[in-house]
Amino acid sequence: FFESAHAKKVWQMEQVPRPTVFDFHGVSMTKYFTDNWDNIQNFQARPDDILIATYPKAGTTWVSYILDLLYFGKTCPERQETVLIHERVPFLEITVPSVFTGKDMADQLPTTPRLIKTHLPVQFIPKSFWEQNSRIVYVARNAKDSAVSYFHFGRMNSLQPEPGDWSSFLQDFIDGKVVFGSWFDHVNGWWEKKQTHSKLLYLFYEDLIEDAGREIDQLCSFLGLSVSTEEKQSVVTEVKFDNMKQNKMTNYSTITVMNHKVSPFMRKGQVGDWKNHFTVAQDEQFNEVYKQKMRNPAPQFRTEV
Ligand code: A3P
Repeated sequence: FFESAHAKKVWQMEQVPRPTVFDFHGVSMTKYFTDNWDNIQNFQARPDDILIATYPKAGTTWVSYILDLLYFGKTCPERQETVLIHERVPFLEITVPSVFTGKDMADQLPTTPRLIKTHLPVQFIPKSFWEQNSRIVYVARNAKDSAVSYFHFGRMNSLQPEPGDWSSFLQDFIDGKVVFGSWFDHVNGWWEKKQTHSKLLYLFYEDLIEDAGREIDQLCSFLGLSVSTEEKQSVVTEVKFDNMKQNKMTNYSTITVMNHKVSPFMRKGQVGDWKNHFTVAQDEQFNEVYKQKMRNPAPQFRTEV
């Protein structure tokens, strides 16, 4: 499959028309994530599948690469040289009509366990993942950095709606009028699920930044993996921001719908970049909204962010 014409075609698309968001069962979505809806909902998960779930820009690619290295780094070293990260870890709900669907890519993955990524809010996850009791790794990133990263991503990626200027994008983000809906509903919804679903590990981007090795230990214990100290150290090094930014297999530089001259996919990879974007007034407004919209109990983001 990895060598197939289908897989290659996916990443050589011409520019696609920018979509607009619309309300889809109460969540803002675009056609690129809803066109194949019934098929996605009927996706057949397996007990050993691992689903990586995030609100966009929370470090999905980072955690995808960590998991891929943990599972296949030693057994399939050539995979690291020849297969793009978004082929190794397909994006379940993406559909570009007559070009490809992430669901087909996931179905055709030749290796097990299958690593699959999704940005769907918890209520949209295909029911087979719950029935099969597949493991799920959720990654959350603090709201303000997520908003900033999402804004720059919209500027460079024509699969995203036009973000407009920063202040109008921030208002859309607050109102949940961005693709995959409200950040608040997403992180809260998944946090609530974690209270009852034991096969769900909830990680934070900021913790990965602080100590990736410690978070890899957490991942290994959740997944029942044992890796040597040397293997772990080599994963920690491999997934450092600068290394992933240089690595053609992980930096998305081959995806033609993305214009890295506008803003690179591997942009800054920092905690607190929001301080370079939010005005004092925007920060005050955001803090008010935050108090209203976070549920109780809410995911414990670091207060110093
Ligand atoms: P920035 O735009 O703030 O730089 P996703 O993969 O969910 O789309 O998330 C992308 C964000 O994660 C980008 O954030 C990107 O730079 C950051 N990121 C990716 N790999 C990273 C790494 N190894 N270390 C730190 N941040 C990383």
